Amino acid sequence: MGGCRRELSGTRACRMRKEGEMDLKGRDFLKLLDYSAEEILYLLDLAAELKEKKKQGVLVDRLRGKNVALIFEKTSTRTRCAFEVAAHDLGMGTTYLDPSGSQIGKKESIADTARVLSGMFEGIEYRGYGQEIVEELAKYSGVPVWNGLTNEFHPTQMLADALTIREHFGYLKGIRLTYMGDARYNTGNSLMVLCAKTGMHFTACTSAKYFPAEELVRQCKEIAAGSGGSVTLTEDVETGTRGADVISTDVWVSMGEPDEIWAERIADLKDYQVNRKVMENAGAQAVFMHCLPAFHDLKTRIGAEVGEKFGVTEMEVTDEVFSSGQSLVFEEAENRMHTIKAVMAATLGWSDR
Ligand code: CP
Ligand code: NVA
Repeated sequence: MGGCRRELSGTRACRMRKEGEMDLKGRDFLKLLDYSAEEILYLLDLAAELKEKKKQGVLVDRLRGKNVALIFEKTSTRTRCAFEVAAHDLGMGTTYLDPSGSQIGKKESIADTARVLSGMFEGIEYRGYGQEIVEELAKYSGVPVWNGLTNEFHPTQMLADALTIREHFGYLKGIRLTYMGDARYNTGNSLMVLCAKTGMHFTACTSAKYFPAEELVRQCKEIAAGSGGSVTLTEDVETGTRGADVISTDVWVSMGEPDEIWAERIADLKDYQVNRKVMENAGAQAVFMHCLPAFHDLKTRIGAEVGEKFGVTEMEVTDEVFSSGQSLVFEEAENRMHTIKAVMAATLGWSDR
């Protein structure tokens, strides 16, 4: 297996894997809080290994005969494609249930849905609204459940982000990551947890109204105290972005939020746009990351509508930064597939041995 790093926790993850001690078979993947640093690093190593195999054209279809259900109560490009391609590469079949194509929550309870799908599939992906829904699905499911995004967390995105950061810098521990914009939603919350778990320094640089919830901040500070990472919340762009290795952001209005909120969000967050000044303040070493989709120009229907209504041409990130050599967004997007493949492989019992 490739990808063993020099940092202590990574070395341990590799050793555990070689000795066969890291068994994630049967586990759900609902949020990173449920996973230890060693388990997260193990999944990154497995993703790196699967990525290498894919590049070399080595088949990894060891899960032939299995099938997975992909439930999307919100739309998706990356997550859906990543699950479908990854499942196919592993030899599995997929069934996609779109936002209008299932009875879930409408005519059939989450618990009944979980029990029905467990009888037909070896794994279930769920993208939707409250975290409590995916937690309930997992509670009643007899097969692993993977969170493809909820309002609160986006854990598969985190593995892709971590793999991308590690590929670029060579390590995670000690990396300074600043998140700008809406830090109280799925991506901001999850990046804070990822940093705390893996010893990275997380800064939420935004209006205090958009800081992550106090209880999650407290939990992450406690975890960071043990990992060597840190959690900082600041409204000051100058100090919040100075020297950052990674500047990350996300859309200012997330899926499921009402359109009426755009005016307030633009007013609240315009000072926290990732632009050239921010990147220069961070320094030449800094990279830009975004889970995508991004509003960096007016070439989307919503971007054009919002742009016309509020007189803006770019929102959370300028097109200049998005398209610059410091931007890792498309590497990050590709890594969704390799990391999701690792999650399915590990929880469904992939084995090299
Ligand atoms: N980053 C992400 O989750 O993208 P999709 O919404 O396209 O799946
Ligand atoms: N915060 C965004 C993430 C999209 C991948 C949303 O929930 O819409």
